[in-house]
Amino acid sequence: MSVLNAEPLILGIESSCDDTAAAVLRGRNILSSVVAGQDTLHAAYGGVVPEIAARAHAEKLDICVEDAVQEAGVSLNELDAIAVTAGPGLIGGVVSGVMLAKGLASATGKPMIGVNHLAGHALTPRLTDDLPFPYLMLLVSGGHCQFLLVKGPDDFTRLGGTIDDAPGEAFDKTARLLGLPQPGGPSVERAAKDGDEKRFRFPRPLLDREGCDMSFSGLKTALMRTRDSVVAEKGGMTEQNRADLCAGFQAAVRDVLTEKTRRALDVYLAENPAEPSIAIAGGVAANQALRQSLQNLCEQKAVAFTAPPLRLCTDNAAMIAYAGGALLAQGVSHDMTLAARPRWPLDKTSAPLLGSGKKGAKA
Ligand code: KG4
Ligand code: ZN
Repeated sequence: MSVLNAEPLILGIESSCDDTAAAVLRGRNILSSVVAGQDTLHAAYGGVVPEIAARAHAEKLDICVEDAVQEAGVSLNELDAIAVTAGPGLIGGVVSGVMLAKGLASATGKPMIGVNHLAGHALTPRLTDDLPFPYLMLLVSGGHCQFLLVKGPDDFTRLGGTIDDAPGEAFDKTARLLGLPQPGGPSVERAAKDGDEKRFRFPRPLLDREGCDMSFSGLKTALMRTRDSVVAEKGGMTEQNRADLCAGFQAAVRDVLTEKTRRALDVYLAENPAEPSIAIAGGVAANQALRQSLQNLCEQKAVAFTAPPLRLCTDNAAMIAYAGGALLAQGVSHDMTLAARPRWPLDKTSAPLLGSGKKGAKA
């Protein structure tokens, strides 16, 4: 580390799902963050195709790293460490990233840190807002859905999560069922703006069950049935029907996430944190109805609410560089035996959740 810069300079690499990303951070300062998405490659298949994703990562990773380093105005030799997502995720992509990191680490002699992708998301509020430990994190995306009690860079307790689909997946499937464009979240939210959320009543799965686990796969089946009966009754799907279905569906997701967050908050607050706060991350965190509802809950409970900017809520490499830096500060680094892991639960003690998001292999 240079004497002039006490903060470490870290390259982050991310390739665990369908975004190829590289970033350079100096401490909490993001010098560059490059994300190459793959939406167009997978669009025709209605979901991420692992083999296509892996090939695209292999093709794009070195370009992303070059761009990130150049944009940051640094050279590889100035780096203090290389952080790479080593799991959980689609294994072909994770292997591509880990292989590149190993190559860079052995060529430059810099330390390498294998980072858990979920830890990257979970630590993002520290990168963006310097949030003090312990805080509660709700991670909601197309592939993840869990509540985490975040106590340190490598100290996480999972309080609950989905036992089947992730909410983003449910939004995407809903959009597909209603003929709306992908990604489904933004198009369903847009349509819902003109809809009446009370016209169709969708189930609020698992609210009758104690704890913070959730289920979203039944919602899409309910939506499909309602859609079919509307079409049968009215002879087609009008804009208003579509808007009402979207509003009803979104309200169900919002209500389940809000009620489960209330329960997770009770567990968290029982530990008497000095500065109670909850943070949200993942693509679904963009949903305004959900944000508003969580914000109201936080006001009621006198808990601070942090929502990092969306580009840092969705998959990116800045969060991996930051998490890697936090581990490096604790003396963690890995050698050439670092393995890519398709599954890697953050919480080493809680029992694994069934399914927990089907978009990719998840913890
Ligand atoms: O975190 P992300 O970019 O990627 C991963 O899943 O890893 O999240 C993408 C997911 C998609 O399922 C997308 O439909 C959903 O986030 N999403 C939304 C909104 N914007 C994106 N869901 C609900 N409302 C939104 N406004
Ligand atoms: Zn992610």
